[in-house]
Amino acid sequence: MAPSPSAGSITSGAFYRRWLAPMLSRDEGMDAEQLSRMALAALAQASLRRRWPGVSTVLAGLAMDLQRRDLRLEQVLFGCRFVNPVGLAAGFDKNGVAAGIWDQFGFGFAEVGTVTWHGQPGNPRPRLFRLAEEQAALNRMGFNNDGAEALLRTLNRQVLPARGQRPAVLGINFGKSKITPLDLAPDDYASSLELLAPLADYAVINVSSPNTPGLRDLQDTTQLRRLVERLRRLAGCPPLLVKIAPDLEDESIDGIARLAFEEGLAGVIAVNTSLDRLGLERRRLVQTGRTLAEEPGGLSGVPLRQRAIEVIRRLRAGAGPALPLIGVGGIDSPESAWERITAGASLIQLYTGWIFQGPDLVPRILEGFQQQLDRHGLRTVSEAVGSGLAWRGEDWPESG
Ligand code: FNR
Repeated sequence: MAPSPSAGSITSGAFYRRWLAPMLSRDEGMDAEQLSRMALAALAQASLRRRWPGVSTVLAGLAMDLQRRDLRLEQVLFGCRFVNPVGLAAGFDKNGVAAGIWDQFGFGFAEVGTVTWHGQPGNPRPRLFRLAEEQAALNRMGFNNDGAEALLRTLNRQVLPARGQRPAVLGINFGKSKITPLDLAPDDYASSLELLAPLADYAVINVSSPNTPGLRDLQDTTQLRRLVERLRRLAGCPPLLVKIAPDLEDESIDGIARLAFEEGLAGVIAVNTSLDRLGLERRRLVQTGRTLAEEPGGLSGVPLRQRAIEVIRRLRAGAGPALPLIGVGGIDSPESAWERITAGASLIQLYTGWIFQGPDLVPRILEGFQQQLDRHGLRTVSEAVGSGLAWRGEDWPESG
C-alpha cells in the first residue's frame, strides 16, 4: 500500500508552497527560465550522486513523500511497464540531467528532450513567461539543448538501469535542428534516434513545437509518413510515438489517427503548446509590455485544457481503443487528470500545472485515481481509459 510521510515531517508540498509558490504567484520577479535552471542544476547533482549516503537519504524521503504504489495503477503499453500513468512532459529536462531520479518524484515515466542532432542555443531571452493569474505560460525557447551526443553522455554518466528495469519509463523526445532544412529533416531526426535508441524505452517524434520555423509542416500526413518510415527502419528503433499540436484542424487529427494505425505507431501524444491565444489575446506580458497577440511563442497551462481534451476525444474516436494516447495540456488537479484518462488517454503528462501546483500534484492525482476506481467500482486504471466516467466528488457514498 502507499507509503506516507511520517507525521510532523516537512513534506515537499509544504516546502514548495512556503518557499517557491510565492515566487510563482506573480508574473514579475525571478525570471522563469532562471528558476528552472537553478532547480535543474540541483537535480542534476542529485541524479549523478544518487547513491551517495546523504543524497540517497534525502531522495528516499522524497520518494516516501511523493510515490504512491498501487498495482491498480500499473499498465503495460507498447512493451513498457508503467508503474503509474503520470509522467513528466518534454521540455523540462531537455538535456536529461535528472533522468536517474524522476521516479523519486512519483512519476511513472519521464520524457527528456526535445533533443536535436546539433546542439543549439535556442531563441534570445527572455523566452519563458509566467502568466500567474491564468496558471499558464508562454514560451519560445526554440529547442535550446546540448545536442544528441551530449544527451548520450549525460545519460551514460548517470548509469541508469537497463531498459525494462527502470523504476520510471524513460522517453526521449526528438526534434529537428534549426540549421537543417525541412527536406532533410528525416536524416536529422534519424541521426539522433540512431545514437540514442539503445537508451530510450520509447521515442517521440516531435513535429509540433511552434518555435522551430516550418517544423509543424511535418504534421502533414505525406511528410509525416515519410519521416515515420525512415525512422522505423533504423536498427533497434524503440516504440515510436508522434507528438501533435493543439492547433490542427479536426480533419488533420483524423489523418494522423489513420496514419498512426496504418504505420503501426506505438501512440500519439496530444498536445504541444498552442499558437492560439485561447482568449488571452489582449493579455500583456509585464516583461515586454506587448500583448500575447503580438508575442511569438506557445501557450501552455490551464487555458489549453479544453482544446487538449477535444484533441484526445477526436483521436480516440478516429483510432479506437487500440492506439495508446498520452494526454498533456492544462492538467493541474486530480479532476483534470481523471477527465483526460476517461476521455481516452492511457497516460498523462504534466508540465505547467506541476510547476504552479508543486511536486505533490503527482501523489494527489494518484490518490484521486485510487479513489475514483473505488467510487466507480473499477479494478484498474486501464478500465477507466476512454470510459467517459465523470469525477465522483466528496458527496459520493463510499462503496465497501
Ligand atoms: C514545453 N513543451 C515542450 N514539448 C516538447 O515536445 N518539446 C519541448 O522541448 C518542449 N519544451 C517546452 C518548454 C516549456 C518552457 C514549456 C512550458 C513547454 C510542451 C510541453 O511538453 C507540453 O506539451 C505543454 O506545455 C502542455 O502541457 P502543460 O504545460 O499545459 O501541462
